[in-house]
Amino acid sequence: MRLLAVETSCDDSAAAVLDSQGNVLSEIIATQTEHHTHGGVVPEIASRLHMSVLPGLIREVLEKSSTSLKNIDVFAATAGPGLTGSLLVGLSWAKAAAYARNKPFLGINHLAAHIHIHFNSDVEFPAVALLVSGGHTMLFFMKSWRECVLLGTTRDDAAGEAFDKTAKLMGLGYPGGRIIDNISVNGDPDSVVLPLPLGNKKIPEFSFSGLKTAVRLKWETNLITKEDLAASFQKTVCKILVSKTLYQAHKLQAKSILVAGGVSANSRLRAEFKTECAKRGLSLFVPEKKHSMDNAVMVGRAALSALQANPKANSGLRCNTFPRWHGELLFPLSQL
Ligand code: KG4
Ligand code: ZN
Repeated sequence: MRLLAVETSCDDSAAAVLDSQGNVLSEIIATQTEHHTHGGVVPEIASRLHMSVLPGLIREVLEKSSTSLKNIDVFAATAGPGLTGSLLVGLSWAKAAAYARNKPFLGINHLAAHIHIHFNSDVEFPAVALLVSGGHTMLFFMKSWRECVLLGTTRDDAAGEAFDKTAKLMGLGYPGGRIIDNISVNGDPDSVVLPLPLGNKKIPEFSFSGLKTAVRLKWETNLITKEDLAASFQKTVCKILVSKTLYQAHKLQAKSILVAGGVSANSRLRAEFKTECAKRGLSLFVPEKKHSMDNAVMVGRAALSALQANPKANSGLRCNTFPRWHGELLFPLSQL
C-alpha cells in the first residue's frame, strides 16, 4: 500500500509517500522564506507560492520513492485549520488526483496530524499530548489514538506566536522561535525575572500575551542583553509548558507524554522534558526536528490512523477547508 500526503496549511509546501506502516519512502518540505522580510506570513504570497511549487514537489517525491501516481492507493491532504487560500491548493490537488485515479481521499485535521507524527511509534496509553505550534497551544488526554480529549488551550497567544512576537519586538527577525533558541545558548536564563502568567500548574490553560509585554518593558530599559532576555523568556515559557503537562500526566496517570508542533523543536523544551520524564519513569515522544515543524509525514500518519479505525474511510470530494477547529474530540478526519 502506498499513500501520498500533502501539507499546505501555512507557509510550508510538503509532500510525502508512506507505506502502510507509516514508514517514510520519500518526503520533501519546501519552506517559503519569502515571508521573512515581511515579519510574518502573508496569506496571498503563501497560496501563490504553493501553487507554483506543489506540482514539481509531488513529481519529485514520487520519483524519489520510485512510485508513480497510478501506484498510489490513498491520497491525503490537510483540510484545516490553516490559511484558506493555502489549504485549498493542497486539498484541491489531492482531491483531483484521487478523483482521477478513482482512489479514496482523506481530508486531515492539521492538529491531529501534528500529534500523529508519533503514530508509528510504540506509544503506551493513556498519554498526555502537548501541541505547541505557531497557531496553537493545547493539552490533550489520549486514551488511544482516537479517544483524544482537549484539556485546555491558550486564552490569547499560542506559544510559537509568543516566540515570534517576542523576537520581533526585540528586533531579532522572523521566524522568532529558532532565533531565540539559538541566541539563548549565550544568555543566562536566570538573569531576568519574568512573570508566569496563568502559572498555576493545575490549570491546563495558557496565556502568553502578558509575558510578551513584560519582555517588552524589560527590553525598553536598555539594561539587558538580548541573549539574557531571550534565555530568560525561553526558560519561562518552557517552565509553564513542562509543569502543566507533567501535572496532567500525574493526575491522569499517563504512561507517556507526546510533544508535537513547531515549538517542540526548542532545545530547552526538549531537554527539560527528557530530564523530567526520565525522573518520573514516563515514556517521552518528541519528533525529529524536521517533523516538529509542518510536514506531510504527519498528515500521512493521521490518514493511516483514520484508515485503521475504518478501512473504508473516505472524506470524498465534498470535503472542504476549515480555517478553525472547535471541539473537544480530536479525530483525524476533517468531518468533525
Ligand atoms: O508547527 P509549525 O511549523 O506551524 C504551525 O502549525 O504553526 O510551528 C511554527 C512555530 C513558529 O511560531 C516558530 O517560531 C516555532 O514554531 N518554532 C520554535 C522553534 N522552531 C520553530 N519555537 C521555539 N524554538 C524553536 N527552536
Ligand atoms: Zn503546524
